Amino acid sequence: MGKINTRIVKINGINPEKELIEEGAKFIRAGKLVAFPTETVYGLGANGLDEAAVEEIFIAKGRPQDNPLILHVSSLEEVKPLVKEISKEAEILMKEFWPGPLTLLFKKSTLVPMIITAGLDTVAIRMPNHPIAIELIKSSGVPIAAPSANTSGKPSPTSAEHVIEDLYGKIHMIMDGGTTGVGLESTVLDLTVETPIILRPGGITLEDLKEILPDVELDAAMIKDDNKLVPKSPGQKYRHYAPKADMFVFVGQVEDIVKAIKERAGQLIEEGKTVGIMATDETEHEYERGVIMSVGSRKNLGTIGQNLFNVIRRFDERKVDIILAEGVESFHIGTAIMNRLKKASGGKIIKV
Ligand code: TXA
Ligand code: MG
Repeated sequence: MGKINTRIVKINGINPEKELIEEGAKFIRAGKLVAFPTETVYGLGANGLDEAAVEEIFIAKGRPQDNPLILHVSSLEEVKPLVKEISKEAEILMKEFWPGPLTLLFKKSTLVPMIITAGLDTVAIRMPNHPIAIELIKSSGVPIAAPSANTSGKPSPTSAEHVIEDLYGKIHMIMDGGTTGVGLESTVLDLTVETPIILRPGGITLEDLKEILPDVELDAAMIKDDNKLVPKSPGQKYRHYAPKADMFVFVGQVEDIVKAIKERAGQLIEEGKTVGIMATDETEHEYERGVIMSVGSRKNLGTIGQNLFNVIRRFDERKVDIILAEGVESFHIGTAIMNRLKKASGGKIIKV
């Protein structure tokens, strides 16, 4: 437990109370840290133009210094002073997908402190689609630097409870606006290179982006189970979203996945292990032994995105030794889900 008396407030996610927003903005302007909800996950915000404040983010999270941060804006005009130029493609994408779960890379201007970009010449910017986030940025009057509001290495927070678990006593304020909608972090897209490339898959999918950028690619290290591929984004090289338990992800036909997990769970339970099974609404009734939790519906992968990080945290609470997780098909939002499962399991993907 840290030494700061963290102020926790419930705040309306549709019409945020002005006085609570102003209270948060005051902390931001004073160089303090405020956790707030976005449509993806909770962010840990600081004044993005205040180097000392941004440094506090790295300390509170225990984040490696070489991992750059995203700047959050509340209007298109706020982008201009932060970047060298805005390409035609960027303009179209911002109009189409902002506010929303798409982070774009730009060549940075000198206004952006080096600590934000970890020394890189590009800066990541996004406009979140959440009234609390937007009002907080507006009221602060500065771009807000915000990584996910978790301890580095843990699953990103999708509720204020998760933020409290990780950061209580280490930051000045937590704005509790309920659970987040997408549940997975934003898509990070690099437009500063010849062929636009997705550095991290998220809520805006490869398929969505292809409609506007036909040649866009997904960084192969994001999905392939070849651990020798080095991700292009600094943040992606760390083991992330990691449960305390050892995790294995099963991919293939659904019936085969269920059969393989049942078999493996049986063996492990015989060995005296506590086994967590990450099932889906369609399959959870088929399992008999182990700590069984459904992560959502295979018919609506968005629900799996929403619940994934919470379910990983709940397995840790139940102190399971091993998590056997069902994989999903890697298209649309399924690509982002499989990317997070791959990272949470340290690449232990089992094809059945
Ligand atoms: O949905 C989200 O993006 C959430 C909410 C709070 O907005 N934020 C978030 O931030 O996930 P964070 O710091 O946990 O992840 C940012 C990712 C990291 O993988 C980082 O390496 C990458 O974006 N990134 C940031 N700036 C970059 C840059 N200039 N070049 C390459 N990657 C960059
Ligand atoms: Mg993060």
